[in-house]
Amino acid sequence: MSEGENTELEAVAELAKRRGFFFQSSGAYGGVSGFYTYGPEGAALKRNLEDAWRDRFVTREGHMEVSAPDVMPEPVFEASGHLDGFDDMILECPECGESHRADHLVEDNSDVEDAEAIPIEEVQEMIADLGLTCPTCGADLAGEPVEEFNLMFETNIGPGSSQPGYLRPETAQGIFVEFPRLKEYARGQLPFGVAQVGNAYRNEISPRRALVRVREFTQAELEHFIDPEEDEPPIERVADVELPLYSAENQNGEGGIEYLTVREALDEDVVGSEWVAFYLGLAKGWYERVGVDMDRFRYRQHLSGERAHYAVDCWDAEAELGGDWVEITGFAYRSDYDLSKHAAHSDGDFTLFKQYDEPKTVERPTVDPDMSVLGPEYGDVAGDIREELQLLAERDPEAFEADTVQVTVDGEEYGVDTDVANFAVEEETEAGEHITPHVVEPSFGVGRLVYTVLTHAYGEDEVDGERRSYLQVPTELAPTFVCVAPLVSNDDPLVERAESVRERLREAGFEVDYDDSGSIGRRYRRQDEVGTPFCVTVDHETLERDDYDAETVTLRDRDSTEQARVPAADLPELLADLQAGDATFDALLDRGDVHRV
Ligand code: ATP
Ligand code: GLY
Repeated sequence: MSEGENTELEAVAELAKRRGFFFQSSGAYGGVSGFYTYGPEGAALKRNLEDAWRDRFVTREGHMEVSAPDVMPEPVFEASGHLDGFDDMILECPECGESHRADHLVEDNSDVEDAEAIPIEEVQEMIADLGLTCPTCGADLAGEPVEEFNLMFETNIGPGSSQPGYLRPETAQGIFVEFPRLKEYARGQLPFGVAQVGNAYRNEISPRRALVRVREFTQAELEHFIDPEEDEPPIERVADVELPLYSAENQNGEGGIEYLTVREALDEDVVGSEWVAFYLGLAKGWYERVGVDMDRFRYRQHLSGERAHYAVDCWDAEAELGGDWVEITGFAYRSDYDLSKHAAHSDGDFTLFKQYDEPKTVERPTVDPDMSVLGPEYGDVAGDIREELQLLAERDPEAFEADTVQVTVDGEEYGVDTDVANFAVEEETEAGEHITPHVVEPSFGVGRLVYTVLTHAYGEDEVDGERRSYLQVPTELAPTFVCVAPLVSNDDPLVERAESVRERLREAGFEVDYDDSGSIGRRYRRQDEVGTPFCVTVDHETLERDDYDAETVTLRDRDSTEQARVPAADLPELLADLQAGDATFDALLDRGDVHRV
């Protein structure tokens, strides 16, 4: 990590706190590690980012969105595998008692990039071999036990401890457990997608790097349910999108990032699943739209030991922050893992009925044992023997060609006359079959995206001999779209007119700030710093006309710092075009009634 990169993150952290993007929560009580509050600017940016996500991955794709509870009962997480398998490696310092993530200690002190993928015993050995010491107190960590630590926050549902519950570690489970109902809302037709934007909770061992590793964070997840045998993604929509791919093979060898189109990545088998490739392509355009710098972005494939317990293939979108690559989204092919687990652990029906094009005639081996013979002969076990005979008929119909058939009940063998078993093969017509859908999941971390967008948008330059810091966030994400200001603050007519412009713009639906304190240059810089794309200034020339329709104001562009005189009455329309991307500030300057200032 170079000094410049450090400085960038430090500057963003300082700006985030000073201008109200985000800061550590409960500061009056000393703060709690891993919990952050989004201030007014940050909450607005986060909301705009979530809306942009909904627009791309829900509305435009025709999916549905749900909102499930944060707390779920224990059986959900027994079924999902989180109780058993959602662990990180913890190492406790013998001297100061501070807990550390063992895999991160190794990564921070060696060339190893993904120690999470290494078996726990080897990580313990590596800590000794590398001679690692406690980052907090310097004590020797060689030989200290590395253990599994479950990341879920436990709670009790209702008074007492009879019903344990957990804060969900991913929003996805709130979708999977409701599948028996959701499939009805989708009219029983695959494929369909269900999205959720909501909080997830992980009791991270050592939260760090601001919003990157926190204990409560927002996820925007899409669970796309598909029939793996029939459904194909509309790959042609993204076939030509170029992806920066860092494959598992290249991570293990000497290779770096390869630039392949979605089509090439599939043809060359770099990405195995068409569905995952589709989402990598779709998401790439969206990251560009929300301001992720494509020179600081890559897709990295999970190494086999790193994959989550449910994932068949997984790629992460990663952004470079302060010289480190940080996962901002996980793209996983989860197969039928989750739905099958919930089917096995609950009473719900997690299948869908799939109609055949043509009804099929199938042969079904059956038995109809003569219970007047089995009953007296075998007593209590006669019923079990009947069930075993049926299972045997389905498994091995040829066994009924002999004079007697053998079945086992509770480890004991029983021989039954084939005549008594009454074996037959019946023909049945089936209209379809019950299938368990597979799931493709893009899982976006909203906080990490907010942090990435802020960091990649941050810049510094000099305007009129003064240092300026600015946030070049896309217009769509800017917490405030336009700031209205009177040129000077102690001039009543100017203030009155500026307030009326502010009201008109608010009435037109824009996010408007109003600022009348300090010099106009300082006010512009304040807006640049929080990413406001445009400033409108009411000056004495505005007041020269008495008629609102003839009035003009100045419009200033954050990125070029250029200003133009525009008709005040046209402002809502001009700003709407700029917001929608239907016009640029440069193009505006070509209009006959607009003049560069
Ligand atoms: P990491 O390896 O960095 O812990 P992960 O592989 O556990 O991440 P996922 O389980 O795939 O992450 O979660 C999906 C997304 O949720 C991530 O891409 C990330 O953006 C976000 N996320 C996960 N854990 C955290 C956290 N502790 N703080 C903030 N965001 C998180
Ligand atoms: N839903 C993916 C994850 O949070 O692990």
